Amino acid sequence: MYNTWEELKTACEQCEKCELCKTRHNVVVGVGSENAEVMFIGEGPGENEDLQGEPFVGRAGKLLDKMLVAVDLDRNKNIYIANIVKCRPPQNRDPKPEEQEQCIEWLRAQVKMINPKIIVCLGRIAAGRIIKSDIKITKEHGLWFEKGGIQMMAMLHPAAVLRDPRRKPDAFDDFLKLRDKINEICDHTY
Ligand code: URA
Repeated sequence: MYNTWEELKTACEQCEKCELCKTRHNVVVGVGSENAEVMFIGEGPGENEDLQGEPFVGRAGKLLDKMLVAVDLDRNKNIYIANIVKCRPPQNRDPKPEEQEQCIEWLRAQVKMINPKIIVCLGRIAAGRIIKSDIKITKEHGLWFEKGGIQMMAMLHPAAVLRDPRRKPDAFDDFLKLRDKINEICDHTY
């Protein structure tokens, strides 16, 4: 395990455990407050994230930021955002199970150091890995699951909302549920 964030980040940035390291420009470790009570977990970096080294900075990220602001959350202040895989899968394909398996160790270390009260999984891949393997995101987004003392919720991936804007009200509803849960169980997020 890692004693400091610096140690964790340095090790993660040098990772060559899977072949995604060969095509990456940057390892996208995560962004936000390392004392956050709320963690967001996405699938993996896309092109913009790979080039800039930060999660959710493309179109989907802009939508995510708007939804966050609407419930008084801010990626640079009171949440932490990371992904299941830290390096971009070529052509934005789904990360392979073996890539997820290798990379999840970094996420486990991040969760351990942050010790969040709430984890929000963005999209099917993250929710399937973190909440339960057979999760049906269209039916089960917005529901709370408890695992290891952490409250967890799956949300629609912002890229899916961009593809089908009719899903926006549903997506926004989930952010309101998140705000309620934060008010209920968090001490210093708001
Ligand atoms: N989609 C994700 O799941 N993660 C990112 O960081 C960007 C887009």
